[in-house]
Amino acid sequence: MIPLSLAQIARVTGGQLCHGDPDAVVSGEVVIDSRRAGPGGLFAAVAGERSDGHDFAAAAVAAGATAVLATRPVMVPSVLVADVPAALAALARSVVDALPAVRIAGITGSSGKTSTKDLAAQLVERLGPTIAPAGSYNNEFGHPLTVLRADAATRYLVLELSARGIGHIAYLCRVAPPRYGVVLNVGHAHAGEFGGLDQVARAKGELAEALPADGVAILNADDPRVLAMAGRTEARIVTFSSAPVSDAPVRAVDIRLDDLGRPSFTLLTPEGSAPVTLRLHGAHNVPNALAAAALARELGMDLDGIADGLGAAVARSRWRMEVHQRPDGVTVINDAYNANPESVRAAIDALAHLAQGGRAFAILGHMAELGGTSRASHEDIGEYAARIGDSGLAGLIAVGEEAAPLLDGARRVRSWTGEALAAPDGAAALELLANRLKPSDVVLVKASRAAHLEGVAAALEGEAGQ
Ligand SMILES: Nc1ncnc2c1ncn2[C@@H]1O[C@H](COP(=O)(O)OP(=O)(O)O)[C@@H](O)[C@H]1O
Ligand SMILES: [Mg+2]
Repeated sequence: MIPLSLAQIARVTGGQLCHGDPDAVVSGEVVIDSRRAGPGGLFAAVAGERSDGHDFAAAAVAAGATAVLATRPVMVPSVLVADVPAALAALARSVVDALPAVRIAGITGSSGKTSTKDLAAQLVERLGPTIAPAGSYNNEFGHPLTVLRADAATRYLVLELSARGIGHIAYLCRVAPPRYGVVLNVGHAHAGEFGGLDQVARAKGELAEALPADGVAILNADDPRVLAMAGRTEARIVTFSSAPVSDAPVRAVDIRLDDLGRPSFTLLTPEGSAPVTLRLHGAHNVPNALAAAALARELGMDLDGIADGLGAAVARSRWRMEVHQRPDGVTVINDAYNANPESVRAAIDALAHLAQGGRAFAILGHMAELGGTSRASHEDIGEYAARIGDSGLAGLIAVGEEAAPLLDGARRVRSWTGEALAAPDGAAALELLANRLKPSDVVLVKASRAAHLEGVAAALEGEAGQ
């Protein structure tokens, strides 16, 4: 972080300094979790559903924070503002403006943002000091907090941009104006809140619109709604594709998956071709890798560096397609981070691939925020699961009442011989599975964040001795 005095912070945020020395300096991290407040930092107090950050203001200062950003008076050094996210945005923007040499990339899409951000960051870090968010720090809080970590040594910002409505991405792009914008796909994540896929496309395309004329829009040529964003930007367009036939400059051909679903492919660019083998699991990581490659290429990385970097990149964020092989021969796919129709399909495809020598089981929770299409979407996913491989899943376990339509969908497949099982909660799902699993079976665990199925996955991974 660039050191900022409390007087500067008050000026940038339009806030009022209370109980503080105007010359006291914030040089440590800006955090919204008081437990993470540390020496020289700034604690932004936010009123959440369960607790109010203002109650922890004193604790944050006791832990070393220089001051607190607050919306109501607290008894410690503080800057009082009307709106904390807006204040964080203003601070982040002032940091960006003070660092004109930093090249900023934004990544958006309905699925794969974090995976792509992690891949891209691991490439770009090879070019110079890079700041990228941990996990999914991608909204009006996480985004400015990430940007605020930049300092004079930073050369690149690789940012994940999320939207739950129109205008959200435009807002994040004003906080840290990207010159490079990556759009992965337009899918059903949060489609209920948006009101349909066209609205999702409108929202994600705000990234393309925000790019300057000397910027680069990196677009997925395999998604027509993404490709159409080419018409909404002044920036130069660079496309990527994993289709067998395409005129995109950055492509993957000869895509293969190993036994654990790790893709290898030939990376084609205008400069030549190179073999790539990913350490990540699932075919859906091929477009993610291409997007990261196209970005790194625009930032000046050569083909060998890109291929090498992709092959070395690891999964940095938890619970996304983690594949765990148990000593008893059972394989667990922990993809419990989140779920929407496209990402569940991607995960079921990976499950089908991994289960070629055994039986496939899926523990699925419900997919949140789908709006009016929710029931039909769950039924379609259930049907999809019942059709994989030669005989579909051996068992589909739906966790919670809202996930029950998955089972109705699976039962629509007359030829399906697997079991449709309802579990009220994760513990019940584990119990149902316990006396069914045999060596060489593969289990997928996936649901929306709210279902917290990562505990189920962890329990499964830990069973049968480590
Ligand atoms: N390109 C993609 N297309 C479809 N599904 C994907 C893609 N990339 C990832 N996924 C699925 O979405 C899950 C979440 O991935 P993540 O990178 O965290 O996405 P996001 O940050 O957009 O929520 C993955 O575990 C996987 O199941
Ligand atoms: Mg994410």
